[in-house]
Amino acid sequence: MEDRKSWAIKDETILDDLVQLMGLTAHDKEILGSLKEQAKAAAPQLAEDFYARLSVYPPTAEYVEGSVDRLKGTLQRWFIELFSGDYGQDYITGRLRIGHVHVRIGLPVRYPLAMLDIVMKAGGEVIAHSANPGEATQAFHKILALDIAILTQTYENSQLKHLAEMVGNERLARRMLTR
Ligand code: HEM
Repeated sequence: MEDRKSWAIKDETILDDLVQLMGLTAHDKEILGSLKEQAKAAAPQLAEDFYARLSVYPPTAEYVEGSVDRLKGTLQRWFIELFSGDYGQDYITGRLRIGHVHVRIGLPVRYPLAMLDIVMKAGGEVIAHSANPGEATQAFHKILALDIAILTQTYENSQLKHLAEMVGNERLARRMLTR
């Protein structure tokens, strides 16, 4: 198999990669930014629903026990930032860091992904206040998809890094991961 163009796109450069792929426009950013106050209003209920689910299921509860109050705060900040309207390098660096926090605690990637219905419900409540719900829905779906892409990329980055260290180079590691 030949090397792929995407293999050379790393770390913060994935912002340009994803923005180009998804076509996140200035208009999308403006719409999202205009809903920040509504996002602040919807964030507490999101945090309640999110940790209510994680706390009653033993395989997820063991990660959050004792930290729920703090995590409700960090989740709310994360959600409000989806509506910051400014998605530059600092945003991506922050999102990569958040992804890596989940890698470091040994959390299977399926669990963050399995929480998206709750995030989408909260997003729907924010969008309901928009003057243009159709465009706001599209913009919200894009920014959420971008975040999920970054989160899952941090998992792959970590696996690739460790495998590359073991086998001596990244190219060989990538080939091994395709088997
Ligand atoms: C959509 C999914 C999720 C989002 C957006 C999210 C967001 C966040 C954020 C913003 C932080 C703070 C990171 C920091 O600044 O240090 C965090 C930390 C954390 N998250 Fe999540 N999270 C998600 C899913 C989960 C799930 C499913 C679990 C557990 C089952 C979990 C467990 C934790 C734990 C334990 C920490 C604290 C880690 C530490 O400080 O060592 N997260 N999360």
